[in-house]
Amino acid sequence: MTNPKKIAVVTGSNRGLGYAISRKLSQIGIQVVLTSRNESDGLAAKQQLSSEGLDVNYHILDVTSDRSVAQFTQWLEETYGRVDILVNNAGINPTNKPEESSLLTVQLETMRSTFDTNVLALLRVSQALIPLMKVHNYGRIVNISTEMASLAAITSDFYPLAPSYRLSKLGVNGLTVLLAKELLGANILVNAYSPGWMKTDMGGENAPFTAEEGAETAVYLATLPDGGAQGLFFAEMRKFGGPIQLQW
Ligand SMILES: NC(=O)c1ccc[n+]([C@@H]2O[C@H](COP(=O)([O-])OP(=O)(O)OC[C@H]3O[C@@H](n4cnc5c(N)ncnc54)[C@H](OP(=O)(O)O)[C@@H]3O)[C@@H](O)[C@H]2O)c1
Repeated sequence: MTNPKKIAVVTGSNRGLGYAISRKLSQIGIQVVLTSRNESDGLAAKQQLSSEGLDVNYHILDVTSDRSVAQFTQWLEETYGRVDILVNNAGINPTNKPEESSLLTVQLETMRSTFDTNVLALLRVSQALIPLMKVHNYGRIVNISTEMASLAAITSDFYPLAPSYRLSKLGVNGLTVLLAKELLGANILVNAYSPGWMKTDMGGENAPFTAEEGAETAVYLATLPDGGAQGLFFAEMRKFGGPIQLQW
């Protein structure tokens, strides 16, 4: 039988922002497929949400692996026959070595692995799942970016250089615009947003906001009405009390 709920896939949702987005989407009646590259981490997260009375499904997914993405896509097709929402959340920000904080010293391998996870994997998952949106002429794709990747603001901002991370998120922004352009007329809305600096493993404990707060814009973009925003860059809604566009 066709599942009457909207089906949402959230990558890297065993912890941090992805977990918070999964919880919020599930709370509003969306069938979330929580995913993680490590099965036991993902099942523990699913168990936690189940203990709150939330009905969440789970499947393993390493976004950097062709095989994992292909197996996941096949499972989705067999289980639901379609996808409605894709939140491209999985990401890394390698800053554990001092040389990684400067373009003059950053290791090319660090650049490569960051682009692999943050940019190419986003494209890999999108390429795999968009056909499962096209089958029913409906899709919402939410790409997690950062204000640190706004080219318009980069010369005047106060953020750390973090070259592999910032340049990879510039790639995310570019992918968002180009994908949106290619999907014009398909009722598949593709947008990016900056969740703000959050208290997650990546953001650290000094961050001012929680992952739950950062998740608000994802829910807004994942549930856009037909004809809604396409190919745009948003800030975290909590900071402004509503959806605010950022400059690319
Ligand atoms: N935290 C912030 O202040 C902040 C600000 C702006 C944007 N963001 C963005 O928000 C997103 C989530 O960040 P976060 O703060 O929640 O980070 P996090 O706590 O470090 O969580 C990152 C998630 O991505 C997953 N992941 C990494 N590589 C993966 C792979 N190959 N396949 C599948 N999953 C993978 C991790 O899985 P494992 O548990 O297996 O490692 C984890 O679930 C990222 O795109 C990040 O760039 C964060």
